[in-house]
Amino acid sequence: MPPLRHLAIIMDGNGRWAEQRHLPRIVGHRRGVETVQRIVAACHARGIPYLTLYAFSSENWGRPVEEVGALMGLLGRYLQSELDTMLQRGVRLRVIGETGRLPADVQRVLEETVSRTAANGEMVLTLALSYGGRDEIVRGVRRLAEQVKRGALLPEQIGESELSAALDTAGIPDPDLLIRTSGEMRISNFLLWQLAYAELHFTDVLWPDFDEAELQTALDRFRQRQRRFGLTAAQLAEQATTPGEDRH
Ligand code: IPE
Ligand code: IPE
Ligand code: MG
Repeated sequence: MPPLRHLAIIMDGNGRWAEQRHLPRIVGHRRGVETVQRIVAACHARGIPYLTLYAFSSENWGRPVEEVGALMGLLGRYLQSELDTMLQRGVRLRVIGETGRLPADVQRVLEETVSRTAANGEMVLTLALSYGGRDEIVRGVRRLAEQVKRGALLPEQIGESELSAALDTAGIPDPDLLIRTSGEMRISNFLLWQLAYAELHFTDVLWPDFDEAELQTALDRFRQRQRRFGLTAAQLAEQATTPGEDRH
């Protein structure tokens, strides 16, 4: 049974949920926030140490201004309303993405929530905001290039762990499982580097309808998977019987 340290979710389908009901898309986003609250609680109750939620992509800036504005408003209110719960549950908030593009008031509440929850150790909740995987890699490479320019790093010292440490997700283990709702089977520029060996779970359920039972189904299926990391099943069986081996 593979251990699950990090669950990542592409929360998709809010707009279609609303459109199916002839409601404005923002109503779907509001229901989506309620799902976030339920799923964060459910992951915390299950002792999942890292949860990362794709909330707003770099490409989502291209949506109609009213929708972007409404999403930013929802985000600010969500953060304000969740701070107490995060402190009670010992949840630490992290943010990945180009947060400098977010409205100033949202940046302020984000910074406050991140700093006030910084000492919490029960669960790390990471929100991907104004996030794009390619953009993150480019920014990470630029950070490394600056170190090389300063003479603090040699090009031949750059390996996978150096690039991992230069990304927004520095210190967070790679996701073990990725869930995407709403039936789309694509990554949409999410955690391109970090998802290298993640197990993938796609469900047709739209994000506002995603509930604890759906989460449990995804977790149960994950537990039935054999993660081979390029090895043979026989090698894995041998590793499992050899004590003290470094296993994934
Ligand atoms: C996901 O729902 C939320 C965000 C991308 C912000 P969508 O808004 O993408 O919903 P659909 O895909 O249009 O149904
Ligand atoms: C991905 O959903 C981004 C988030 C869930 C925040 P999109 O709805 O933006 O993705 P595409 O456009 O269908 O690929
Ligand atoms: Mg979508």
